[in-house]
Amino acid sequence: MLLSIHHIGIAVDDLDAAIERYSVLFGAVVEHREAVVEQGVEAASLRLGASRVELLAPTGPDTPVGKFLARRGPGMHHVAFQVADVAAELERLRADGVPLIDEQPRRGMFGLQVGFVHPEATGGVLAEFVSDDLA
Ligand code: CO
Repeated sequence: MLLSIHHIGIAVDDLDAAIERYSVLFGAVVEHREAVVEQGVEAASLRLGASRVELLAPTGPDTPVGKFLARRGPGMHHVAFQVADVAAELERLRADGVPLIDEQPRRGMFGLQVGFVHPEATGGVLAEFVSDDLA
């Protein structure tokens, strides 16, 4: 069961510049910042009122976000849906033959449990399931 949109993920070239832009334009406040070396990404989670934006900058061109930027340029990268049970949501879709990026939950940004659904399944937008007891 989906509970809410947890965050929108946005691919950026320059994380510091993007944080500054969201702060000046929208009054966003950084709640977490983290480099996830094995995923080739440096990320910042920003709060905007009750909502959240996740800014993602690649650590190099040969990373998933680096390739995304080369292909599509900066912009919206994924939408993350908050769910109670990531494994159950992935299993529900897998049983229906829906293309997934993750068949099992994994540790995502900020230690949260996540799983990604392939953009082929949604009509072009990468979707993320996330469970977050603190949200
Ligand atoms: Co995300």
